[in-house]
Amino acid sequence: MKIEDKRVLVTGVAGFIGSNLTDKLLNLGATVIGIDNLFNGRLENLAEALNNKNFQFHKGDIRDFNFLLDIFKDIDIIFHEAAFTSVPQSVKMPESCNDVNINGTLNLLNAARKRDVEKIIFASSSAVYGDTPTLPKHENMPRIPISPYAVTKLTCESYMEVFHQVYGLNTTSLRYFNVFGPRQQDSPYSGVIAIWLGRIIKNKSLIIFGDGNNSRDFTYIKDVIQVNILAAENKSSGAILNIGAGSPITLLDLAKLMLKLTNKEELGIIFDPPRPGDIIHSYADISKVKEILKFQPKYTQEQGLRDYLEWYCKKYEVNLKIK
Ligand SMILES: NC(=O)c1ccc[n+]([C@@H]2O[C@H](COP(=O)([O-])OP(=O)(O)OC[C@H]3O[C@@H](n4cnc5c(N)ncnc54)[C@H](O)[C@@H]3O)[C@@H](O)[C@H]2O)c1
Repeated sequence: MKIEDKRVLVTGVAGFIGSNLTDKLLNLGATVIGIDNLFNGRLENLAEALNNKNFQFHKGDIRDFNFLLDIFKDIDIIFHEAAFTSVPQSVKMPESCNDVNINGTLNLLNAARKRDVEKIIFASSSAVYGDTPTLPKHENMPRIPISPYAVTKLTCESYMEVFHQVYGLNTTSLRYFNVFGPRQQDSPYSGVIAIWLGRIIKNKSLIIFGDGNNSRDFTYIKDVIQVNILAAENKSSGAILNIGAGSPITLLDLAKLMLKLTNKEELGIIFDPPRPGDIIHSYADISKVKEILKFQPKYTQEQGLRDYLEWYCKKYEVNLKIK
């Protein structure tokens, strides 16, 4: 099944991943129906899509079942990106996180079942592994969530599996490991790369929570989009797959790399106390997704950072000399 002939629904379409995915799907010739309640997303992210005749935007909430049923007309594939996405916020407001992520996802699955959707691809998270010491993280190891956000992602994966087994819905869960790239927001709750870039532009030091030896498998957005399309075009069903670059970097090395690439080494780094719910090490074993979807990441962290920095400087007319 080729994506260009499909009518696809993207939830969370005005967000970081949803909007980038939408632009790619439209470029490939798919028809895209996008929904977002604009809780965190921005219409500005859809500037290109809104000029495309194959795109429709509907403002609405995935917790509203009747809204979903109205939208679901001849949808072939769903990319489910909408979520309450912040780990620290989920610690402060577990009930809101639960409501959006679990009740919203269950609504979507029920609407998909009623309307005979071919496939749903769910944006899960490496957060489901918690802080278990085993590295790299592989799909069958114990999952021990340490935040309300992670609990909701793990529950939704189970719902994906159950809807596959019980109702025959074709589902795939992609466990993203720290995605970064264009349109990621520089807010207190967004990814560290976007936050640090915001600080570099304001000529402020980079802040690390903890000693900087925490490691992450930062994954470039273009690879995340590539794998979503591979998942949509693949016949396998019920799979849960790690999505990462497959190579860890410590936060300290990442901070140094960003300062070096932007020629701002003089700004330096500040170390603050660790935050509750933060995971110490996270690094993906991506052999399963390589085998099942023939996925091969195209961006190392340094290549992804360069691509992102170049996009950012052009878009916001920022004068950084990228090394
Ligand atoms: N960015 C990452 O590093 C990362 C890592 C792991 C998993 N994920 C998952 O990937 C998905 C996309 O993340 P993102 O980084 O693009 O986040 P984002 O916050 O930029 O996008 C999420 C979008 O969902 C929308 N939304 C929130 N609640 C909604 C609701 N009730 N109804 C409709 N829309 C709603 C928001 O307005 C926003 O536009 C999320 O499910 C997230 O949990 C992201």
